[in-house]
Amino acid sequence: MFRHSGGKQEGESSLWLPSPRDTLRLGQALGRCLEAGDCVALFGPVGAGKTTLVQGMAEGTGSEAHATSPSFVLVHRYAGTPNLLHADLYRIERVSEFEDLALEEMAEAEGAAMAIEWCERCRGALPAVRLEVHMSYAAQGRQALPWAIGSRAEALLDAWRRAGFGLRGATGDRP
Ligand SMILES: Nc1ncnc2c1ncn2[C@@H]1O[C@H](COP(=O)(O)OP(=O)(O)O)[C@@H](O)[C@H]1O
Ligand SMILES: [Mg+2]
Repeated sequence: MFRHSGGKQEGESSLWLPSPRDTLRLGQALGRCLEAGDCVALFGPVGAGKTTLVQGMAEGTGSEAHATSPSFVLVHRYAGTPNLLHADLYRIERVSEFEDLALEEMAEAEGAAMAIEWCERCRGALPAVRLEVHMSYAAQGRQALPWAIGSRAEALLDAWRRAGFGLRGATGDRP
């Protein structure tokens, strides 16, 4: 299930996700590791699986909500342990629109973790401590490359890794 990317962070591997179910499992495992205040910053093109990963994350927190891209309202809320704020920056035109959202303050007030899609849009304004997940297309399915910035994000990545990224024993369903 793991494939070395020869990536930028030592020991870092690209996770291969042959099917949408694997993306969901990966997200579920991450959701189970989340604590209030955590930020997961998602990168990658249209269709790379970002929303699917967030759906899994919401499920992993115990939420029964169905995650969809919050394109018009900017932020969706899923009640779980912890709560999860889901933002999508796709339609943002100026970084100030994201700053005005004050997502980190919102998360603090609501005891929530954050999942942000389209982080390419607001690189400079992202929470300083964040677990980045770079999603991309693979020859079959998708792949995800995690990248922790800051010690809490490293601890989150460690916990996710200890959970086998939710992928151990995954069957890799064929499309
Ligand atoms: N690992 C995967 N392999 C194949 N298709 C996937 C995988 N993960 C997600 N998908 C599919 O890709 C499509 C786009 O997924 P989505 O999560 O909406 O992407 P994004 O939010 O990055 O635009 C959906 O039909 C989803 O089921
Ligand atoms: Mg999306």
